[in-house]
Amino acid sequence: MASTVLVTGGTGLLGSHVVPLLRDAGHEVRVLSRHDREPGEGVEYVAVDLTTGDGLDAALAGVRTVLHLAGGPKGDDVSTRNLVQEAQRTGAVEHVVLISVIGADALPIGYFVRKAESERIVEDSGIPYTILRAAQFHDLTLKTVRAMAKAPVLVAPGGVRWQPVAAPEVAARLVELALGRPAGRVADLAGPKVYTLEELQRSYLDAVGKRRLRLPVRVPGKVGKAYRSGANLATATPTGTVSWERFLAARLADDEAQVGAGIAE
Ligand SMILES: NC(=O)c1ccc[n+]([C@@H]2O[C@H](COP(=O)([O-])OP(=O)(O)OC[C@H]3O[C@@H](n4cnc5c(N)ncnc54)[C@H](OP(=O)(O)O)[C@@H]3O)[C@@H](O)[C@H]2O)c1
Repeated sequence: MASTVLVTGGTGLLGSHVVPLLRDAGHEVRVLSRHDREPGEGVEYVAVDLTTGDGLDAALAGVRTVLHLAGGPKGDDVSTRNLVQEAQRTGAVEHVVLISVIGADALPIGYFVRKAESERIVEDSGIPYTILRAAQFHDLTLKTVRAMAKAPVLVAPGGVRWQPVAAPEVAARLVELALGRPAGRVADLAGPKVYTLEELQRSYLDAVGKRRLRLPVRVPGKVGKAYRSGANLATATPTGTVSWERFLAARLADDEAQVGAGIAE
């Protein structure tokens, strides 16, 4: 049996695709998140808040490979520093795999800046590593356009383009990387097509049969400039294969089926 792999954020969207793939590859998996859970087949759970790091020693016991996927709008740099410091202390970790975001070092937005800092912490750790930057997942894209469409007037930021990618494809790539040799920073992973935010908004509204008055706005300052330069888009292949349209159709059909079955509103 292969060694235990620690997956931080294994309960999240990305992590929930990663964990079964690691199990299929024959690994015992330890999932770290802030909440404890009952163990499952080949999967144990440890409750650690990475922003404090309390309990990380036990979480890392016997671990040689770490997939660091835990993250959120705030505190990613602190979490990564705590995780890496404990991994350094054990001296047993042979490979840290970090998920980051395309444009981490180019977009002057807190989340991106903290991801860039997380990358630096991993790069400077002395532990062999692999870093994959991914584009926004389809799920986040849907959440974003859905939230924007709730307002009676649709704010349409000009010049902002996204290249949404399927979370399962990012998960598969991460597992492939984690089971291979540490590779440093690898090619970015984004979806098959670039869309303006307006195109993404429109496709959602068309799909759900809504209409909205549009209010075009220009994103000001350095953030606007970075988006207009395409700093958040992938420049290299390979890209994901699942299109936004395919994701959207499947997700809306699922939502409808759940409403039909009385599971959701
Ligand atoms: N979503 C995107 O479009 C996108 C794009 C590129 C990169 N990424 C990166 O990919 C990673 C996963 O994203 P996701 O969309 O799957 O996120 P998600 O669904 O929000 O899941 C976040 C995970 O992190 C855990 N977590 C959050 N804060 C924590 C803390 N302080 N200590 C321990 N665990 C913590 C959460 O577990 P609990 O809530 O159970 O504690 C959860 O398992 C993140 O690092 C994100 O920045 C995301």
